[in-house]
Amino acid sequence: MEFKIEKANIFHLGGIDRIERECFPIPWSRELLFESITNELYTTLVALGGENATLRRNTTLWRNTTLWGNISKRRSASNLRRVIGFGILMKNYDEAHIMNLAVDKDFRKFGVGSALMESLIEEARKRGLYSLTLEVRVSNTPAIALYEKYGFVSAGVRKAYYSDNKEDALIMWLYLDKNGENNENDN
Ligand SMILES: CC(C)(COP(=O)(O)OP(=O)(O)OC[C@H]1O[C@@H](n2cnc3c(N)ncnc32)[C@H](O)[C@@H]1OP(=O)(O)O)[C@@H](O)C(=O)NCCC(=O)NCCS
Repeated sequence: MEFKIEKANIFHLGGIDRIERECFPIPWSRELLFESITNELYTTLVALGGENATLRRNTTLWRNTTLWGNISKRRSASNLRRVIGFGILMKNYDEAHIMNLAVDKDFRKFGVGSALMESLIEEARKRGLYSLTLEVRVSNTPAIALYEKYGFVSAGVRKAYYSDNKEDALIMWLYLDKNGENNENDN
């Protein structure tokens, strides 16, 4: 599946807001999401997919119709504009806090979350932030697996951190090697 990662701008706010609401029981407000795009403390990245990405999943349904041809031509002109995922990093003194990472449920397991995480790590490095931290629900197996894939390790639990169901949060850290590679947390 084709997609690209870039810095979010104000035109992406609606797409980010939609995914935020779809993914999280306690979503950020639109105002806060706006701030994450416009305030220099944050780096917000979006994954942009093709307008026809969802249709591709049902090619057998669409391909044999004239309609498919029309839609295919019309949509390929406006390629890679749909927000299919996003990630938010916040600078907190000399640390980077990953505040949010989410992928549209129709586009999961295609490597979008990984690409966003790699780009967030790169952005942290560019900003001179070599310690990254985040909180994740203890039950969120896919997200924990993704974070571990990039070298994050758990360093404790915040009890009843999430107000909707009083679920605990796992606190995870990643320490980057200033010379380039991610430190696999042997410190
Ligand atoms: C977590 C999330 C961002 C992953 O996005 P994604 O685009 O599906 O991730 P990727 O395809 O890049 O997968 C990356 C890794 O995540 C892990 N992973 C993803 N989905 C998984 C699943 N359903 N079960 C177990 N591990 C999973 C795997 O380790 C995978 O690596 P692999 O493909 O090498 O095995 C996505 O599931 C999501 O948006 N969830 C809802 C929002 C959320 O909970 N965000 C985290 C908040 S802290």
